[in-house]
Amino acid sequence: MPHDDRLVMTGMRQEDQDIEASLRPRHLREYIGQEKVKNSLGIYINAALKRHDALDHILLYGPPGLGKTTLACIVAAEMGQNIRVTSGPAIERPGDLASILTNLNAGDVLFIDEIHRLSRAVEEVLYPAMEDYALDIMIGKGPTARSMRLDLPKFTLVGATTRAGRLSAPLRDRFGIVFRLEMYTPEELSKIVARSAGILGMPYDSEGILEIARRSRGTPRIANRLLKRVRDFAQVRGDGHITAEVARDSLNMQDVDALGLDRIDRAVLSAMIDKFGGGPVGLDTLAAVTGEDAVTIEDVYEPYLMQLGFIMRTPRGRVCTPLAYEHLGKTPPAALPIQDHTDAEQTSLLD
Ligand code: ADE
Repeated sequence: MPHDDRLVMTGMRQEDQDIEASLRPRHLREYIGQEKVKNSLGIYINAALKRHDALDHILLYGPPGLGKTTLACIVAAEMGQNIRVTSGPAIERPGDLASILTNLNAGDVLFIDEIHRLSRAVEEVLYPAMEDYALDIMIGKGPTARSMRLDLPKFTLVGATTRAGRLSAPLRDRFGIVFRLEMYTPEELSKIVARSAGILGMPYDSEGILEIARRSRGTPRIANRLLKRVRDFAQVRGDGHITAEVARDSLNMQDVDALGLDRIDRAVLSAMIDKFGGGPVGLDTLAAVTGEDAVTIEDVYEPYLMQLGFIMRTPRGRVCTPLAYEHLGKTPPAALPIQDHTDAEQTSLLD
């Protein structure tokens, strides 16, 4: 199954765009979870409003689906400003970025998703824009060429990336505010699902909502998607009410297990256990035996499997923990490879 067909994949699908737009909280007070980010952001926003100044540039990083776009929209709304949304791959040439920048108004928020995918040439345009609110343009060619500096309005760049480690150092250093978004707890996700069910007018009980939350891999985008699937099931099989039983049956039927793992997560874990004795396994090997690409495994599957404590990264590769064996109903070997790697590489601060 290609990964974009998975019910629990974290990327944005067409159906999510509509649902996310209608469910997206518009103000910081409506935003559930990410308490540290919310508290700091609230302070920075208030301070900037008091000074009648634009907010510093903000870098948001963390796994997909955790609400980076939502937060960028909230920043703009709380500042009382407009937002322009674009993405790294969409800005192909320096001229594309120049045209976006010159069309901004003072105070606007410019949101660049997947900012790590900007080309070096486009990044070069961004540096003086971020630092000095200036655009350096070349006039003419060859020996007579000269550079001219245009002033830009004072704007706030909000950049989003799945991993800050992928950003070039000069770009990363130009963000005054850097936040890492964490996966949500089942309790936080329950509140998000309950809020969404309320907005969509779906009857539910708290166990039904918690069952969906537990299977949503710490990710609101997945939680809202599962909620819709469970609603369909509840309407066809029951009276439309979302109960624990309806949620369980519906998600089991769709191969999303009690912890939110689907067939591909289980295939990754099974390959590690059955083919490599639990690891260490290199990322590329894992990609080859599961048929997924290495970046997808690293950005989409691994963060949640690591969050669950099912796999660990070590200098020699990925290793399954006894918890993963137990979840798959397998017996862990007496001496697990991780015991050789107590100094397992920890992800760096920005990774
Ligand atoms: N919908 C998606 N993410 C949310 C969040 N963090 N809080 C409230 N509603 C959301």
